[in-house]
Formats: sequence, C-alpha cells, structure tokens
Amino acid sequence: MRTKIVAGNWKMNKTFLEAEELVAQVAEAMDTRKLDNKAVVLCPPFPYLELATDIAKDAKFSVGAQNVYPDDSGAYTGEVSPPMLKSMEVEYCIIGHSERRKYFAESNEFLAGKLDGLLKHDIIPIFCCGEVLPEREAKKHFKVVEKQLNESLFHLKKNEMAKVVVAYEPVWAIGTGVNATPEQAQEMHAFIRGLIGKKYSKKIADDITILYGGSCNAKNAKELFSNPDVDGGLIGGASLKAVDFLAIVDAL
Ligand code: PGA
Repeated sequence: MRTKIVAGNWKMNKTFLEAEELVAQVAEAMDTRKLDNKAVVLCPPFPYLELATDIAKDAKFSVGAQNVYPDDSGAYTGEVSPPMLKSMEVEYCIIGHSERRKYFAESNEFLAGKLDGLLKHDIIPIFCCGEVLPEREAKKHFKVVEKQLNESLFHLKKNEMAKVVVAYEPVWAIGTGVNATPEQAQEMHAFIRGLIGKKYSKKIADDITILYGGSCNAKNAKELFSNPDVDGGLIGGASLKAVDFLAIVDAL
C-alpha cells in the first residue's frame, strides 16, 4: 500500500533555537492529527538531527537528513555516513536534490552509491529527479528523468526498490514561485510510475510513493495532491514556517 508523505526540506536555514522552536511547533500540532497511511518528515540540517529525532520519539513525525556520503566511514572530511544517521534514528534521507547536483557536481553514478549506502542501513532514500528549464522547453524532460532513474535507481533489486521514495522536482519550479501545473506533475509522475512498472513490477510501481517538489505551498498543495500519481510533496520554502507546512500536511 502506498504511503502518502509530506516532507519538509529546510535546506541551509535556521539557527539552533529557531530549529528547536519549529520542531516543537510541528510536534505539538501533529498531536491532534491522524496519520493513518501518511507520514510527515522533517529534514533539518545535520546539526539539528538529534534535536529532531529526540522530539520525534514521542511525536507523530519522522526525521530525515538532507544528504549523506555513500561509504560507512573513512577519510572524508566534513561528510556524514549512513551508519551515523542510523545511529541517530534518522529514518529518511534526501539524495539527488538539484542543488547538490548543481553546486556539488553530484552525478547519477555517485547517487547510485548513496542509494546503496542508505539501503544497506535501512534508511529510506528520498530520491530527487527532474529537468532544468531548457530541457523542458526542448521537450527532453521525459528523457532526462528516465536517464536519472536508469543510472541511479534501476540497478536496485526488487526488494530494495520497494523501499525507495521518488521526488519529482522540476528544477525550474524550485524556489521560483512557479510550480508545475497539476497536469504537468501528474503526467511526469505517471511516466515515472510506468518506468518502474516496466523495470520491476506493477505491484512495486503501484506501491511506490512519488512526491512532487517545487514551489508547492499551502495554496496549490491540494490541487497538486489530488492527482492519482502525486502522493504528497517535498517542500522547501513553505516548510520553514509551521503554519504553512501544516496547511500542506492538511492538504494531503
Ligand atoms: P521549494 O523547494 O519548495 O522552496 O521550491 C523544494 C525543494 O527544493 O525541495
């Protein structure tokens, strides 16, 4: 059965006290909400993960990291490994975000290693994919996303693939205030689900969670989430204020 998810990607925002306040606000508000087949995930910066996992123990949300290194340990100054995240009870980890691809030159191949590292330690990867504007304008968006899935995800075995969450994030929609239309999101999500169905099985494709990300906010979330293949959202800017984020949670 498909889990619906709203995940907040805080990116490089908030001081410690601000992070503490936002986590507490979400925790308190989630108290009166029912989760059923849904998950709410907060992805704060690394230094605040423990603060978040501590509060999450008695609250109805989960915690995710925004990045990880593929290996378990080693001489990689400044990096954080999957077993480190696991030891802090982090359940999810975003990988392949377009900002990591752009500013840190992360390739599809490198991301494949991150997926393996996370799955080995039973952490759920939230794998981001999506095209840049010139690629969409040249009508290459399906090809670009297919290549990202082929090169980063499709080496996984069936039982591994069944644990992955995919996030479609058209790069032109991230932080721009221009979201994909519900039709554009649905079209790409159905395409991704179709590829997974062909490569793995209909059951795995039916059960996999595919999130939309890119200027998703309290106003447009309901319409985006009402599409049959849009199973929630990966939220950047609108996850930084509890009221906005909770309105999106309520749209699920
Ligand atoms: P945005 O970011 O909601 O601020 O557009 C989404 C993301 O980058 O995950």
